[in-house]
Amino acid sequence: MEVVITADPGFVAADAIAAHVRPGAVLGLATGSSPLPVYAELLRRRDAGDLSFDGVQAFTLDEYVDLPRAHPQSYHAVIRREFTEAAGITVDAPNSEATDIPAEAARYETAIRNAGGIDVQLLGIGTDGHIGFNEPGSSLASRTRVKTLTPQTRADNARFFDSIDDVPVHVLTQGLGTILEARHLVLVATGEGKAAAVAAAVEGPVSAMCPSSVLQLHRHVTFVVDEAAAADLRLTDYYRFVADHKPEWQAW
Ligand code: F6R
Repeated sequence: MEVVITADPGFVAADAIAAHVRPGAVLGLATGSSPLPVYAELLRRRDAGDLSFDGVQAFTLDEYVDLPRAHPQSYHAVIRREFTEAAGITVDAPNSEATDIPAEAARYETAIRNAGGIDVQLLGIGTDGHIGFNEPGSSLASRTRVKTLTPQTRADNARFFDSIDDVPVHVLTQGLGTILEARHLVLVATGEGKAAAVAAAVEGPVSAMCPSSVLQLHRHVTFVVDEAAAADLRLTDYYRFVADHKPEWQAW
């Protein structure tokens, strides 16, 4: 695992994503606030003529169930508004309006597989350690399925809705086993509210109690964190030393 502590996580994570962008590339996209500076930076590079999304397709991580796709806070609407429409990228997302949710989960797994798998998956992290919407207790081998949000996650996400009562209870999310099949995982975390979750994910035991700790089992993971989100890590001096001595030939 690589842990990059930086004042500009959006820029660094954009570097890591851009390294995979080429015709035929398959991107895995996250929603929520953490990836927004990454999307802004990727679009800035595209506008500057330094990056092209021609021939790129994308899949999202998760979606609220019981929220129409047209709702401004559906993750399908959010990702299109924040990134894919401007980038001209075709995006597939779990369809919350499907009448047969297990069949939709199976369709989504097949669609990712048929696309050749995800080259690079962008991730945020919940304050309870979730990735996607795999809440504590999720099977470390799980596939796309319905999950029930924890009260903590519903409270965290209430800022996107008029009230906490409007935050959906159920979600359709890629499983931890699904996420682990992406070839490169890039997790972005900012702010002191994420410090405990980041420390548990990077340096804690691998446990379903902290679903993001499963990333320790993946061969190519990059954590991109700001100082505040890095505050509870024990090996920060070592992570900085590694970054300062990163061989020039070592790509993302
Ligand atoms: C959203 C997702 C979630 C978020 C997490 C952090 O697609 O997969 O895991 O990344 O809840 O959300 P923010 O970034 O809003 O703190």
